[in-house]
Amino acid sequence: MRIGVLGTGNMADALATHWVRAGHEVTIGGRDAHKAERLATRIGGSVKPASLCAAAESGQVVLAALPFGAGADVARDLHAALEGKVLLDCSNPVGPGFRLLTEGGLSAAIQLAAAAPGAHVVKAFNLCHEDVWRMRPPVFDGRALAVPICGDDETAVARVRELVQDVGCKPVAGGGLEQAGLLEATAALFIALWVGEGADAQAIAPPLAYAAGPSHQETDGGTSAFRLG
Ligand SMILES: NC(=O)c1ccc[n+]([C@@H]2O[C@H](COP(=O)([O-])OP(=O)(O)OC[C@H]3O[C@@H](n4cnc5c(N)ncnc54)[C@H](OP(=O)(O)O)[C@@H]3O)[C@@H](O)[C@H]2O)c1
Repeated sequence: MRIGVLGTGNMADALATHWVRAGHEVTIGGRDAHKAERLATRIGGSVKPASLCAAAESGQVVLAALPFGAGADVARDLHAALEGKVLLDCSNPVGPGFRLLTEGGLSAAIQLAAAAPGAHVVKAFNLCHEDVWRMRPPVFDGRALAVPICGDDETAVARVRELVQDVGCKPVAGGGLEQAGLLEATAALFIALWVGEGADAQAIAPPLAYAAGPSHQETDGGTSAFRLG
């Protein structure tokens, strides 16, 4: 796959490193040519440094590894180059006090989609810290990390599923792009638990067999506890 990366920071580094090892053709695009050059050299292999625009043009999949505040502006500038591409959004619109900056409004992913209407935006990789994405592979207690993916275009989601597997993780269907805000809110909650409380976010969910209550599991497959309305 040809992958363009927008940004030369931590997420660009962590994810591009996996994808290069998996044999993809990666172009690192930065607003600062020296930083793009430096990251491309550090990752090595066939990685090429480029401008943001050239990276967007080069990729079948384009990772926006940019701060929430910059993502939509950059996507708007590059909308022509992003036409028909998969635009992968890993951003977390989380501000001081672990506040969700999009509260009451459009999710970061939907804002990105509005900025580049010809692109197929897919949300993934936002729930864990860069150090987790640098693991080879991210496996905990023998279980591969599960990565929820939200997107509307089936082919785009299939490509991102492949990229999740290339990181050594297990893709999980997270629903359409309208669900991406839930992933962003989940990140805000997790970050507050980890950083604010020093709490183990992994411990807040029960195993699947108990998720809807063991008695429901036996009688109706666990659906009754979550009936809406
Ligand atoms: N780091 C994590 O653990 C983590 C985990 C999950 C999700 N995320 C999300 O992933 C995204 C990237 O995070 P990161 O940690 O990789 O950030 P980072 O290390 O700060 O890198 C951000 C990159 O965006 C570039 N950038 C900033 N403003 C820009 C603009 N206006 N136009 C063009 N480029 C711009 C920066 O370029 P310069 O160097 O030239 O400023 C840099 O290359 C964020 O949305 C973050 O919420 C991060």
